Amino acid sequence: MRILVTGATGQIGSELTLVLRERYGGDAVIAAGHRKPASAALASSGPFVSLDVANRDALARVIREHGIETVYHLAAVLSATGEQHPQRAWDVNVNGLYNLLELARESGIRQIFYPSSIAVFGPRTPRDRTPQDTVLSPTTMYGVTKVTGELLCDYYAHRFGLDIRGLRYPGIISSETPPGGGTTDYAVEMFYPAVEGKPYTCFVREDTMLPMMFMPDCLQAALDLMEAPGAKLRYRTYNISAMSFTAGELAAEIRKHVPGFRVEYVPDFRQAIADSWPRSIDDSAARTDWGWKPRYGLPEMVVEMLAALSRRRAAGCLYPTG
Ligand code: SER
Repeated sequence: MRILVTGATGQIGSELTLVLRERYGGDAVIAAGHRKPASAALASSGPFVSLDVANRDALARVIREHGIETVYHLAAVLSATGEQHPQRAWDVNVNGLYNLLELARESGIRQIFYPSSIAVFGPRTPRDRTPQDTVLSPTTMYGVTKVTGELLCDYYAHRFGLDIRGLRYPGIISSETPPGGGTTDYAVEMFYPAVEGKPYTCFVREDTMLPMMFMPDCLQAALDLMEAPGAKLRYRTYNISAMSFTAGELAAEIRKHVPGFRVEYVPDFRQAIADSWPRSIDDSAARTDWGWKPRYGLPEMVVEMLAALSRRRAAGCLYPTG
């Protein structure tokens, strides 16, 4: 199996690439990103190509030269950056996906993983236990591109028989590569000053509740969905979730381990984005159809995050480079 991971230097890609290389062999998994791999593990474990997915010729060359059969298409501009650069968000998120689908139609690609997001929902969507089938009318460009992406994937699957599978990820929390330009980034950022004994200034209100997931569950979900028997899947893109908490509840959980940890709440433009997204997600279809079951809740996630970052701080490399 020859696998391409786009967005391989990003928050999810940098860890998913390593897991795929363990399973399928280092040389079988081509990491593609628009910047150099920051981690030594990513750089040394297999091939890396520099790639802008909005450039169809460049993408075609990588697929052809490496005989790609499966693509984890993670390259995307996230929600906060997308509001600052909406044209770039459309170009990368929609044209990049369209390029991939067109090339998949013409070549031997047999499976594509497409990460969607809670950003497909909007202010008119029920915010608690948001259903699988519901109103998709986002107010961010990122959300618009993800709804468009879901529809494009549906079309290419029905019209051209491609096997495309997707997940509407919540905010992803991880200790390795930090997220770049998302609205849920505060749930990762907060841990860094916490392990240094410093206060954190949070860019959403204390009572802001969003659905979240710890990285091991995020990776397991992608692998499980891609390996599930196609006949069992009633949907192409599944709601998926693990936990929901407010910014204040996260700070309180961290405070159990770091007494005296202080957080100041100074909402910025990202508050409006957070307010347009669900507080919690109904992911029962994923649980029924392909056995989705998260392993991490808030307390377990906080323990692991603090342990990982404390180890890095002790080693003198708390902040990842790159
Ligand atoms: N975590 C992402 C963001 O905040 C949502 O998909 O943009």
